[in-house]
Amino acid sequence: MVKMPLEVKETIEKQNPVPVATVSADGVPNVALVGLLKILDDETILIADNFFNKTEANIKENPKISIVAYDSYAKKAYQIKGSVELVTSGSIYEDMVEWVHSKNANLPAKAAVVMHVEEIFNSMFGKHAGEKIL
Ligand SMILES: Cc1cc2nc3c(=O)[nH]c(=O)nc-3n(C[C@H](O)[C@H](O)[C@H](O)COP(=O)(O)O)c2cc1C
Repeated sequence: MVKMPLEVKETIEKQNPVPVATVSADGVPNVALVGLLKILDDETILIADNFFNKTEANIKENPKISIVAYDSYAKKAYQIKGSVELVTSGSIYEDMVEWVHSKNANLPAKAAVVMHVEEIFNSMFGKHAGEKIL
């Protein structure tokens, strides 16, 4: 796992919705928009699974996911890749339910998708585009 620098965390926090990419076991890509995503700590991102279908199926087959975030004012963009766990019980799940229901009590809050950050790339156009940061 790698620790997200401050500018990466700030860029993710400003991105809404966040595109979340997953891949099925046989290599079919999928991307879904997520509004309820937050940083748990420097190495961990929480995604609320309310309405995932292919995303949830893909995670169960292949835990690798990627997100991308862009701050148009700071002119920063990052791709973050990692592995996820689908959590449906315990304190992380209960905290996710409380957080989701504080936004909207009608949301199903099916599962907490806990992303462990493994790689970060610069995704801003220009001479450093695509460079691995961590
Ligand atoms: C602006 C926006 C925010 C969304 N936020 C979430 C979210 O936080 N959690 C969630 O499960 N679905 C969210 N959705 C719905 C999913 O993107 C949608 O259900 C999508 O079909 C999921 O992809 P999948 O069916 O391929 O898994 C959001 C959709 C939009 C348009």
